[in-house]
Amino acid sequence: MFARPLVLALAVGLLGNTALAADDISSTKHNLSTSGTGSIKLASAPGADTDKDQLCSFCHTPHFGDASVGVVLWNRSVNTSGYTMYSSSSIDMTIASQPQGVSLACLSCHDGTIAFDNLRNGPGAGDYNGNTWSRGWSWTSNVNKMSGSASANVGQDLSNDHPVSVTYDNTADTAFYSATAVTSAGLRLYGSGGNQVECGSCHNPHNNTYAPFLRINNQGSALCLTCHVK
Ligand code: HEC
Ligand code: HEC
Ligand code: HEC
Ligand code: HEC
Repeated sequence: MFARPLVLALAVGLLGNTALAADDISSTKHNLSTSGTGSIKLASAPGADTDKDQLCSFCHTPHFGDASVGVVLWNRSVNTSGYTMYSSSSIDMTIASQPQGVSLACLSCHDGTIAFDNLRNGPGAGDYNGNTWSRGWSWTSNVNKMSGSASANVGQDLSNDHPVSVTYDNTADTAFYSATAVTSAGLRLYGSGGNQVECGSCHNPHNNTYAPFLRINNQGSALCLTCHVK
């Protein structure tokens, strides 16, 4: 009796996955190395940091990652306070008092306060001292962090941005689809309960197939309508 819907659901899931292009961060603005294709990229890195064409190291490190951030092998400084969160009288779910996990990771560049080269462990050997620090590298664009006027700078005031660090709960507000429907459509919910909406719920930092770094095509607002019943 239950076999058919299960098979159908699996088939849809598989089709959904094969329709997604493989991640290719090197061709995106998230490649901040000398081989980057965006306008913000590394020009030169003095001292021991010789491996200037490494691109993962702006976010991850193979050793000495910051496990407290909740993103695999995280290599950057983050701000854990100072944010104004979204609020409105019609919010029914719980929004954390400060951003969490993946959102903190994104905001470590996108709030405009932390230098792109503020890393725990620079590329190459012998570059870790237990802290993050800004290495004073030079940038082709002459900026070492997101400039105040850039549209990619969301700032620390998140009250005018889509809520993040929200506990997804469609019993608190029935105008939402189930968490299972959301994740099987290709979006991501985070945290130990697998129910936190973060920047990475809508964006995939490794893939710009659906610009700007969206997890799925937002044509016809399909992204929004994956969660919202509207
Ligand atoms: C601009 C920042 C950034 C860069 C550069 C980056 N990543 Fe990530 N990566 C993230 C974030 C944020 C996550 C957390 C999960 C998510 O939202 O996709 C992540 C997650 C991952 C994961 C865990 C699996 C997953 O999808 O969650 C792996 C593996 C990974 N990255 C590998 C890499 C490799 C390899 C490179 C270099 C080729 C790289 N990343 C470059 C930000 C980055
Ligand atoms: C290491 C720094 C860094 C991290 C971490 C980072 N980004 Fe970015 N991101 C950038 C830079 C640099 C650009 C290009 C900005 C520009 O050209 O003005 C960019 C561009 C973008 C854009 C496209 C903006 C546009 O104008 O095309 C989006 C969307 C974005 N990032 C989302 C995210 C999200 C979501 C995360 C976390 C999952 C994240 N970023 C993590 C540095 C970062
Ligand atoms: C609910 C989904 C969702 C969440 C959560 C979300 N974004 Fe976005 N973001 C989008 C969409 C959709 C766009 C494209 C906007 C458009 O089409 O006008 C976008 C655009 C952007 C841009 C490009 C802005 C521009 O106009 O140049 C940046 C940068 C960005 N997001 C970063 C973030 C960061 C950082 C977070 C977490 C603090 C975040 N996003 C959370 C859906 C989301
Ligand atoms: C991953 C699921 C998800 C996606 C995708 C998503 N949202 Fe949301 N959205 C939420 C959640 C959860 C809330 C908080 C709802 C609550 O607490 O009542 C919310 C809140 C909002 C609010 C504020 C509602 C209020 O009462 O203040 C607006 C407006 C909104 N979303 C619009 C959008 C738009 C536009 C898009 C597409 C660009 C989008 N959302 C994509 C999950 C999502």
